[in-house]
Amino acid sequence: MSKKQSRYERLTEQLRELLKKSPNTQAEMATITAILHHKMPDFFWTGFYLLNENGDLCVNTYQGPVACQILAKNKGVCWACINQKKPIVVKNVHEFEGHIACDSRSNSEIVIPIFSKKNGTIIGCLDIDSEKFSAFDDDDVVGLTGIIELLTV
Ligand code: SME
Repeated sequence: MSKKQSRYERLTEQLRELLKKSPNTQAEMATITAILHHKMPDFFWTGFYLLNENGDLCVNTYQGPVACQILAKNKGVCWACINQKKPIVVKNVHEFEGHIACDSRSNSEIVIPIFSKKNGTIIGCLDIDSEKFSAFDDDDVVGLTGIIELLTV
């Protein structure tokens, strides 16, 4: 098992315990954001974008520099994840057509879709940026998808 895989395993167990005490989904997302941002190396921006009733993708709880509040529709990495309904890993954001640069220091990015457990529809995504190039790989997809599974949505 890689160092990153075992780190995700530890954090998942820690979050499983912490989320037992979360009163609602908002508290769960805030706790996930805090743990990931402070315990994973190279996470420069960590947060959630959720679809609202108008179909806009709006920023929710996050840690890191101030981010775009609403993401221009069908543009960039988060919308690619929403439209394709699958995780997106971008090794170099400057080469991603339509990438929305909320902060010019970001160089790579991963976005994980969030599906409602009630009806399976996509409700938003977890978005993480790194100042490093190629910071994310399949280990992050697996680890972060497992963590998103902990959400009661
Ligand atoms: N880069 C994202 C926008 C959100 S920020 O990374 C926080 C995108 O292209 O959708």
